[in-house]
Amino acid sequence: MAVSSSSCSLLLLFLVLAFAAAAPKDYLLGGKPDAWKVPSSESDSLNKWAETVRFRIADHLIFNYEAGKDSVLQVSKEDYVSCNTSHPIKKYNDGKTKVRFDHSGPYYYISGEKGHCEKGEKVIVLVVSQRSPGAAPVSPASAPSRGSGVEGPAVAPSPTSGADVLQGGGVLMAVGVVIAMLVF
Ligand SMILES: *[C@@H]1O[C@H](CO)[C@@H](O)[C@H](O)[C@H]1NC(C)=O
Repeated sequence: MAVSSSSCSLLLLFLVLAFAAAAPKDYLLGGKPDAWKVPSSESDSLNKWAETVRFRIADHLIFNYEAGKDSVLQVSKEDYVSCNTSHPIKKYNDGKTKVRFDHSGPYYYISGEKGHCEKGEKVIVLVVSQRSPGAAPVSPASAPSRGSGVEGPAVAPSPTSGADVLQGGGVLMAVGVVIAMLVF
C-alpha cells in the first residue's frame, strides 16, 4: 500500500511540475518597460535578450513604447533583413502592443519609424511548439543527453531532478504526501 500511494504521489508531483512548465507566459520585451527603441549600443541588442528566452506557442510578448512616436511591424525575413517597412504582415501602434504566438517558428519584428530599424530597433523571436504529454518518443531513462535537439533544455531537467529527488526518498515522500493532501 505504501509503495503504490507514494508512486501515485510521485505521478502527481510530475503532473504538477509539467503543468506549471507548460502554462502560457507573458514576456515584457527586453525584460524592461522601455526596450522598444533604438538601442544605445550593439551589445544592447534585443536579439541577445530574445535568445535567452524560450518562447512557446500561446505565450505573449509585450512591446511598450510611446503611442504615435513608434510602432511595431511584424514582417517577413527579407523585410527584417532589409528594414523594409512598406508591406508588414501586421502593424501595431497603440503603444502597448501584446502579441500572441499562435504557431511555432521565427517571428520578425521591426520598428515602423523611419530609420529606427536600420539603427537596430528590430528583434527575432523563435517560438517552439508546446510539448504535449504524449509527444516525447524517448523515455527519460534512455535519453539523459541534453544535446538532443530543439526541445532539449526544457525536457532534460525534469527526469534529472526527478532522479535526484528519488535518491532523497524521504523528502520526495513528504512532498508527495503534501501534494496528495492538497489534491484530494
Ligand atoms: C520594399 O519591398 C517592396 C516589395 O517587395 C519593394 O517594391 C520596395 O522597393 C522595397 N523598398 C525598399 C526601400 O527596399
